[in-house]
Amino acid sequence: MPSAEGVAVLADDPAATERCGAWFGTRLLPGDTVGLVGDLGAGKTTFVRGLGQGLGLFDPEAVASPTYLLVVEHEGRVPLVHADAYLPGKLAGFLDDGGLEYLLERRAAVVVEWADRIRNMLPENTLWIHLESLPQGGRRLTAVAADATAFPWLVELPKIWV
Ligand SMILES: Nc1ncnc2c1ncn2[C@@H]1O[C@H](COP(=O)(O)OP(=O)(O)OP(=O)(O)O)[C@@H](O)[C@H]1O
Ligand SMILES: [Mg+2]
Repeated sequence: MPSAEGVAVLADDPAATERCGAWFGTRLLPGDTVGLVGDLGAGKTTFVRGLGQGLGLFDPEAVASPTYLLVVEHEGRVPLVHADAYLPGKLAGFLDDGGLEYLLERRAAVVVEWADRIRNMLPENTLWIHLESLPQGGRRLTAVAADATAFPWLVELPKIWV
């Protein structure tokens, strides 16, 4: 089972980050929440673009950074709610003002960029994915689930994406 330290994978280029996102997207179910953590340019939106492909969004190319829109909804096989907590006060205000109930009713997968900024507002069983830039240029992605039984397929995660 995945340890509390998480399962790490390497992605050598942007296409690999996207394919890794797609791998998660094919496995996520409506109601799952994914929290992305990573510095500016770590590859969060790239990962979500792949996630959208795996979820079967009708228009995965429409995935873009939602920083100023806060929350963007995409229709698909499994709909996706793509939120951004870069401005945490704004997203927290939306969630407080009924936004959280609204999102939960959507029967969608939810992904939040800069999720560590609203950590205490996210569900207990959020799947956390940390993205780090490596000195040689690629990225390390580390998946951490507080409740590993919620994501049993995590143990099958390939370690290297080329
Ligand atoms: N595995 C990778 N190796 C090298 N470059 C990558 C990798 N994954 C993504 N990138 C590149 O990193 C840059 C930033 O990607 P992206 O916009 O997805 O990051 P972000 O974390 O969403 O940034 P922001 O914090 O601005 O929202 C892009 O040029 C993207 O192509
Ligand atoms: Mg982004």
